[in-house]
Amino acid sequence: MMRRKLVAGNWKMFGSLARNEGLLNAVAAGAAGMPGVDCAVCVPFPYLAQAQQLLRGSRVAWGAQDVHQLDKGAYTGEVAAPMLCDFGCRYVIVGHSERRTLYGETSQLVAEKFAAARESGLVPILCVGETLAQRESGETETVAAEQLDAVIGLLGVQSLRDAVLAYEPVWAIGTGKTASPEQAQAVHAFIRRRVAGHDGQVARGLCILYGGSVKAANAAELFAMPDIDGGLIGGASLVADDFLAICNAGQN
Ligand code: 13P
Repeated sequence: MMRRKLVAGNWKMFGSLARNEGLLNAVAAGAAGMPGVDCAVCVPFPYLAQAQQLLRGSRVAWGAQDVHQLDKGAYTGEVAAPMLCDFGCRYVIVGHSERRTLYGETSQLVAEKFAAARESGLVPILCVGETLAQRESGETETVAAEQLDAVIGLLGVQSLRDAVLAYEPVWAIGTGKTASPEQAQAVHAFIRRRVAGHDGQVARGLCILYGGSVKAANAAELFAMPDIDGGLIGGASLVADDFLAICNAGQN
């Protein structure tokens, strides 16, 4: 089956109202000429209103980078999924490795966040991936499986229908050291096979992004792999021309 490619930016904790304006407008303008790829940006919470204002009606969707697992309550500083819906979000990243390692998010918690996103009608982008130590000790597939199985165990495989996965090897994030297309493809194929073990149709439709030092220079060779359905882009998503070049590489 022909899966549409998605290129999503993860701005992480970068941006300002003044700086975002040019970036969002340029991305919207550039994406207008790229009907063969879906584009999105996941921005810091305070800029969701700005993204909504500047991207509404464009080909670029927007979303957040995290969400609380409950839909309301006395949780100072947290943001609930229905609030993201108020700002027109389509996507929300859950389980990014920075949240797993720096904020102690377990696979169980990530699965609950995935559930909260789904219940609100958001499309979760579930991140999985191993550290360098885990790769070197041969645990790459075990780690991806554990992170994926937490969601399947809690919600069932149907919860992955029309969801997005992102394979992001921790050692490739922000390091300039990208996984080779073959290395990434191997893990993407493993993930798709694992989902296929539950439901072949869900597996065939599943959008699996690669993330980790994707640049304009390496995007095309990554996106050419059969199980790589686009990218989750950190640093390069902060520069309009770089991000648009990656989006263009994703056009079918
Ligand atoms: P970089 O593209 O900066 O390596 O970041 C990848 C990432 O973490 C996207 O979520």
